[in-house]
Amino acid sequence: MTLRNLRIAVRFFCQVVRKGVEEPRGNGCMKTYTGVRFGDIESCEVRPARVGEADELARFDVRCFAGQAWPVEEWSEAVADAAFQTWVVRRCGELLACWVLLLGRPVSYLASLAVGPAWRGRGLGGAIMAAVLAQTRRARSVWLELDVDVENRPARALYARFGFAPLVRFREDDRARLTMVRRFHRPAPGLL
Ligand SMILES: CC(C)(COP(=O)(O)OP(=O)(O)OC[C@H]1O[C@@H](n2cnc3c(N)ncnc32)[C@H](O)[C@@H]1OP(=O)(O)O)[C@@H](O)C(=O)NCCC(=O)NCCS
Repeated sequence: MTLRNLRIAVRFFCQVVRKGVEEPRGNGCMKTYTGVRFGDIESCEVRPARVGEADELARFDVRCFAGQAWPVEEWSEAVADAAFQTWVVRRCGELLACWVLLLGRPVSYLASLAVGPAWRGRGLGGAIMAAVLAQTRRARSVWLELDVDVENRPARALYARFGFAPLVRFREDDRARLTMVRRFHRPAPGLL
């Protein structure tokens, strides 16, 4: 699904059920994580992505997702449109990781999460997931959803560790995919 279609789908769903959420960009998270250990990596800078970073994010995405990477147009949208929480993790200028979160109520959607190949297995993915869950809780989402390739064992292990459960399998672009869900609260009566 393209980013635009994803946003339309999530917005539509959130409007039907309840209001979508637009967390101000550059909130307290940046202060919380800048200059502290993020995973086992010291002194990471963790902050919202800037418009000028779209090209670099698109190139990074190719290194992480190969043929399934988003084109630069999608990254331009992800960094420019306030509907998306697009965050980067950098150290000494190097881009280590990024994520894209679409916050809403009742559902938020983790549209992308990637750690650079050289930086995997050092706790960055886990630290990002903790930050994502904090962002989603703050937005008072009832659940957080994401889609993952069935074959992507490292990602599925990470999501399972953070309380995601499989919801439904489907096929996309000839790949077996899985929607996973992390629930936060019991929906209020009459909400769903
Ligand atoms: C998935 C991803 C974000 C994880 O990032 P990371 O920084 O390596 O994550 P962490 O170091 O916090 O944890 C990785 C976990 O995967 C496990 N793992 C690593 N390789 C694995 C494999 N081949 N099979 C199963 N588990 C594996 C590690 O053991 C670790 O689990 P543990 O903490 O219980 O030991 C990263 O691999 C990545 O960016 N992959 C490419 C892009 C991608 O697939 N993104 C997800 C799209 S839905």
